[in-house]
Amino acid sequence: MDLFSEIEEPEREELRRLRKELEEQNYKYYVLNAPTMSDREFDEKMHRLQDLEALFPDMFDASSPTQHVGSDLAGSGKRKAENGKAFETVKHKYPMLSLANSYSREEIEEWVRKLPTGVEIVCELKYDGLSISLWYEHGVLVKALTRGDGQQGDNVIDNIKTIPSIPWRIERNDIPQFFELRGEVLLPWERFEALNKEREEQEEPLFANPRNAASGTLKLQDPREVARRGLDAYLYYMLGENLPGKTHFERLSTAREWGFHISEAIKVCHSVDEVMNYIAYWDTERKNLPVATDGIVLKVNNLAQQEELGYTAKTPRWAIAYKFPAEKQLTLLKEITYQVGRTGVVTPVANLEPVQLSGTMVQRATLHNEDFIKQLDIRPGDRVWVEKGGEIIPKIVGRADRNDEGISGLVVSGFPTTCPECGAELVRVEGEAAWRCPNESGCPPQIKGKIEHFVSRKAMDIEGLGEETIDLLYQKGLLKNIADIYALRLEDIAAQERLGEKSAQNILDGIEASKSVPWARVLFALGIRMVGETTAKKIAKKYHSIDTLQWATVEQLCAIDDVGPQIAENIVKYFDDLTNLEILARLRQAGVQMEGEAEPEPTSDKLAGLSIVISGTFAHHSRDEYKAMIEANGGKNVGSVSKKTSFILAGENMGPEKRKKADDLGIRLVTEDEFLQML
Ligand code: IVH
Repeated sequence: MDLFSEIEEPEREELRRLRKELEEQNYKYYVLNAPTMSDREFDEKMHRLQDLEALFPDMFDASSPTQHVGSDLAGSGKRKAENGKAFETVKHKYPMLSLANSYSREEIEEWVRKLPTGVEIVCELKYDGLSISLWYEHGVLVKALTRGDGQQGDNVIDNIKTIPSIPWRIERNDIPQFFELRGEVLLPWERFEALNKEREEQEEPLFANPRNAASGTLKLQDPREVARRGLDAYLYYMLGENLPGKTHFERLSTAREWGFHISEAIKVCHSVDEVMNYIAYWDTERKNLPVATDGIVLKVNNLAQQEELGYTAKTPRWAIAYKFPAEKQLTLLKEITYQVGRTGVVTPVANLEPVQLSGTMVQRATLHNEDFIKQLDIRPGDRVWVEKGGEIIPKIVGRADRNDEGISGLVVSGFPTTCPECGAELVRVEGEAAWRCPNESGCPPQIKGKIEHFVSRKAMDIEGLGEETIDLLYQKGLLKNIADIYALRLEDIAAQERLGEKSAQNILDGIEASKSVPWARVLFALGIRMVGETTAKKIAKKYHSIDTLQWATVEQLCAIDDVGPQIAENIVKYFDDLTNLEILARLRQAGVQMEGEAEPEPTSDKLAGLSIVISGTFAHHSRDEYKAMIEANGGKNVGSVSKKTSFILAGENMGPEKRKKADDLGIRLVTEDEFLQML
C-alpha cells in the first residue's frame, strides 16, 4: 500500500457514507415527508460531498445525490409505469412458486419418511402475509417485486423501502454481485388492529385480516401512508448464482449476518419426531407472536439434494407446508337473540357460553339469517362448534350430536314474525335471505340509523353529532327524524348529560354549515335504500331539484347510468310516503339545499405542481371531495406540512400542530371559499 492511498482511503469512505446518508434523507424528505435531519445539516453534508467528489473524479457516479435533485414523484401520475399501470411490471428472474400443502400431520409424516434417509429438514414458520422478492445488485436494493402471477410481478420498491428492517444497501465486500431474497410482508397484529379501529372511526370498510390489510397497503400509491401503517417483513429464501453456502440454513444465517430480518424460529431437524415436535410446539406458541402465521414450512436443507428432488409444474418437491387447522371450540348455544340493523334487517345472533378462541373470549357470533340456522340445524341448548380462521369474526360451523349433553329447559322458538324492537310484522323480500322490519320511520334502530347516516362525513358531515349523542337525544324525544336536527336548540342540547354549552354550540355550528352541503350529497344523506354516494351524484346530475326528482317514474329513473329497476322503485316508493314528504318539506324550510346544478367535474392543470395539505372540516364539500378536486386539477394532496407545501386548504378547527408548523414555515392558509374561487 502506498502512502497516498492511505491518506485517501478515509475520505473515500466518507464520500460513500455521505452519498448513502443523503440518498436516504432525500427519500425521507421528498417521498415520506418525514425528514430526520435539519435542512442545515443536509446542506452542509451536501457541500462536503460535492467537495469530496471534486477531489476524487474517478468516483463520479451519475446516481449520486449531488447529480440530481430529490424527487417526490411517488404517487403522482409521473411515477406510473409506461404501461399506465400504477407500478412497473417486471418478469421474475426465477418464477415465484407456491408450496404443496396439507392439513394432515399424517401426510406430513409420510412426506418426511419418503425422503432419502439422513436428509436434514429445515422447519420454519409459515408467515401469513404476501410474498415479496427483493433484488440486490452490488448490494443495493434495486427492485421489490410482488408475486403477481408467479411469472411477473409489480415493482413496489418505494413501499418496501418504508419497512425499517429491509436494508436498502449492504455495505460489505463479500456479497455476490446479484442475489435475490424472498420473504413475506406482514402487518403486525397490533398495527392491524389500530388500522381497523381508525377505519371504523372514519367509516371506511374494515380489513378482514392482517393479510388483506398488508395487501391493500402494499398497493397504495403513497409511500408515506404505507410508512405510517407500519409493515414488517420476514425473509426465508435466498436465490442467485454463485451464492455462498451449501445448505438453505447456511444461506439464511448468512443473510442474517448481512443484516436481513430472518426469523429465529428456524430449526434444522433430523427425524420425523423432531419435525412433529416442532409442529406441536409452534401450534400453540405461535399465538404469542406479533404477526400472523398459518402453518409450518418444511424444506430439504441441502441445496444439492433440493436440486435432485426438483420441481413439479407449480411447486418444489423439496418443500411442503403444513397448515394449522382453523381453531375450533365446542360450546353451549344459550340463546338466539335478534338484532335489528339500520336498514331494518333482522340478524339472528348466537349467545354462547364464553369460550377461549385464538387468544380472545368469544361469546357472540352471527347466525346471518334464517336459512343459515336451518342449514346448521341448531337451536338453543345445542353444543355448537365455533371457529376462528384467518378472519377476525368468529363463526359457527356446526353442532355436536344431540344427546343429553345439551341442557334442557331452554325455550326453543322459531324465527320471529314481528320486529323485536317495534313489533311490526316482518317481511321477507323474495330472493333475499333476510327478514326485514318495514317500519322505517317508527322502528328505533332504523330511526337512529337514518339519522347517523344523515350526519355522517360523506353525507351532511355534521360533526359532534355522534352515535351516542343521537341516542341520547332520541331517548329524550328531541330527535325522531332527520328534520328534527334542524329544530334543535342550544338549551336542548346543552341540558343533556355529558354535553356542555361548548359542545352544544359546536353541534349547532355543524348543523348550520350543513345547510350549504350540495344537493347531490343531500340526496345521498336522505338514505333512500340502495342510493349510495355515486348513484346520488348521477341522479342529481340529471334531476337538478327534489321537485323534479319527486315526479320521476321508474322508467325515467332507469335511464340513468347505474340506476336499475330496484333502485328506481325504491326512489319512487320513497316519494310515495307521506312521512317522507313531510320531512322533506321541513328540511327545505330549514334551508337545506334541495336543488342545485351538478358540479361540473373539474379537469384542469390549475394546481399543477402544487402540494396541498387539507386540514380541518369544511362546509361545502367533504375532505375526500377536496382531495379529488385537487387531483383533478393537477395538484397533489399531501398529508403533512413541510417547506415543500404550496398551501394549506384550511377549514374550521384546523389542528394546532399543523397551524404552528404552517406559521413557522410561512405557509399560506387558503380558506374553502378562496380555494373554490381559485378553481
Ligand atoms: S418458501 C419455493 N417459506 O407461503 C418455495 N414460503 O404457499 C418458496 N410463505 O408463496 C416459498 N412463509 O408467500 C416459504 N417460511 C416460508 C414461508 C413461505 C410463508 C408463503 C409464501 C409462499 C406461500 C406458499
